Amino acid sequence: MRYLTFALTKGRLAFQTLELLERIGISCEEMKDKSSRKLIFYNEEQKLRFFLSKGPDVPTYVEYGAADIGIVGKDTIMEENRKVHEVLDLGFGKCRMCVCGPESARQYLTHNQLIRVATKYPNIAKDYFYNQKNQTVELIKLNGSIELAPIVGLSEVIMDIVETGSTLKENGLSVLEEVCPLSARMIVNPVSMKMDNERITKLVEALRGNLN
Ligand code: PRP
Repeated sequence: MRYLTFALTKGRLAFQTLELLERIGISCEEMKDKSSRKLIFYNEEQKLRFFLSKGPDVPTYVEYGAADIGIVGKDTIMEENRKVHEVLDLGFGKCRMCVCGPESARQYLTHNQLIRVATKYPNIAKDYFYNQKNQTVELIKLNGSIELAPIVGLSEVIMDIVETGSTLKENGLSVLEEVCPLSARMIVNPVSMKMDNERITKLVEALRGNLN
């Protein structure tokens, strides 16, 4: 039997994924060691292989078949737009994609003004403003701490994920518009889905039966 390879999103999502996998009898003890710098882990008995990568790279590994299965946020799936099958909503990592900014920026959204939008998600933002809202905006790509942008005057608003809302609150910003709900999803390479259909289907069904 060949190895079934999982690409997991480094960080909290990976730990939550391991907990879920344990509930269906799949374990990878080595992977739980937070101090380890190891990138790939094997479960020899079950012929499984796991590796950790940055979220935006997970759909890439899965599209090319370097991983059969990926666990990644819906935000990343939407942004990367790779040829993968999304097969399961894992129900954790819940948050929302939102347009945020100071309350004073709300008027720019209702009056369709030409504003600057800072975001880690230029593709999602482009689709939202151009196709859904018909508002022309200038998109500014950032890589983190997006909330800074409207505070220092880089942009009028941001598009970002909001979980508890505390980052916004502590920085005097609000949710101005909600774009969509998000959570962790399982994605599968289309060829793997055909070649290992029985094995992957069994896995998906076992996971589905064990979601909180
Ligand atoms: C994310 C997101 C927000 C924050 C939202 O950032 O970009 O900044 O979490 O969470 P909250 O609503 O619970 O405050 P992350 O911590 O992933 O880091 P980043 O800013 O470097 O992207």
